[in-house]
Amino acid sequence: MIKICPSILSADFLNLKKELKFLEESKIEMLHFDVMDGYFVPNLSFGSLILNSIKKASKMLMDVHLMVKRPLKFLEQFSKAGAFSMTFHVECEDNILDCINKIKSLNCKCGVAINPETPVEKIFPFLDYLDMVVVMSVKPGFGGQEFIKDSLKKVEILRNKNNFLKIQLDGGINLNIAKQIKDSGIYYAVVGSYIFCSKDIKQAIFSLKEVLG
Ligand code: DX5
Ligand code: ZN
Repeated sequence: MIKICPSILSADFLNLKKELKFLEESKIEMLHFDVMDGYFVPNLSFGSLILNSIKKASKMLMDVHLMVKRPLKFLEQFSKAGAFSMTFHVECEDNILDCINKIKSLNCKCGVAINPETPVEKIFPFLDYLDMVVVMSVKPGFGGQEFIKDSLKKVEILRNKNNFLKIQLDGGINLNIAKQIKDSGIYYAVVGSYIFCSKDIKQAIFSLKEVLG
């Protein structure tokens, strides 16, 4: 069974409380927060304030995806805001082990993300320290992009290298892609626009769960 993590980047922020309720009624366990700094990616999204608000209205775990040049300076505030897990990019400008150690010292689960153009070998030295690897299946920065099929080759390499590691596939996942990834060995599938841009959020999640288990 692959767990679905809705990315709220594509949510309707004017109706967020209602949409969160739909997710909880659909038995979603973890939300994905795409934090963007406008430098690491050419887009700016939201900070830790949104986690403070959401945790008042929801019991879902909060998974923070930091698409930022210097993640070290944000880790403390997202941990205080209630992050369950924090993922930063291996392409960032901070020392990778410093970020991993800091996230763990904050008692959060730790993930490292790799961009589509980054060879998967780049994260091999860190695998033993991680709770999760995030394989980007779109170019980071925006929701609603096309799934990059080559990302599944990285999943296979990682799966063969370390059978215990949780792999999160992030971006471009819809019902058709779900059918292609259901046996890939990933643990989490991050889904944004397919869920939040659908006419019926609960039906969209139900359709994905029918395929992903
Ligand atoms: C892209 C983000 C993804 C994205 C997922 O930079 O990391 O989480 O928002 O949204 P969709 O499912 O629309 O690709
Ligand atoms: Zn993401």
